[in-house]
Amino acid sequence: MTRQRIVTYDSPILRKHCEPVAEINDKVKELVASMLATLKRAKGLGLSAPQVGVNSRVFVLDLSSVSLDFETMAFINPEILETEGEQTGEEGCLSFPGLFLEIPRPDRVVIEFTDRQGERKEIVAEGLTARAIMHENDHLNGKLFIDYLTPGDREMISGKLKKIKAAS
Ligand code: NI
Repeated sequence: MTRQRIVTYDSPILRKHCEPVAEINDKVKELVASMLATLKRAKGLGLSAPQVGVNSRVFVLDLSSVSLDFETMAFINPEILETEGEQTGEEGCLSFPGLFLEIPRPDRVVIEFTDRQGERKEIVAEGLTARAIMHENDHLNGKLFIDYLTPGDREMISGKLKKIKAAS
C-alpha cells in the first residue's frame, strides 16, 4: 500500500477540477485502500483524492469514530442528485490542520456514485454524513471550505492560513 502525504492549503492540485475514473481497476482499488489507511492515520472523517495528490474523482468517508455502525465508504465518480434543507456546524479539513469553521451545508443529500466493487449506487445521507459528502465532493471540483467564508471572515483567518502554509 502506498503511504500517502496529505497536501495542505495552497497546493495547486486542491484547486483543480478532477478527472472522472474510467474503470474500476486494481490501481483505483489500491488508491481507495491507501486513502482509507491515510484517513484513519490522520484521524479524519473524509479524504479526497486531490488531497493525496491524485487528480481523480474519488473520495472516502470513515465516520466510525462518530457513528459506531458506520462502514467505510468509497465514492467514485459521484454525482449529487438532490440537496435539501440546511444545517450549520463546525467543519474541519485535513488540508487545513487545526482550522475549524462554521459552514452551512444541506441537511440531506441524494448521491449517486460507483463503489469499490464497481457497482453504481444511489444513497440518501443526512446530518453529518451529508455534510462530509458535500465537503469531499467540493474537493473534486477544486472548491474548499474557506470559499464559503465572507471576505471579512476570510480576512479574520488569514493569519491561521499563513501558519498552515508555513508549516507545510
Ligand atoms: Ni477537506
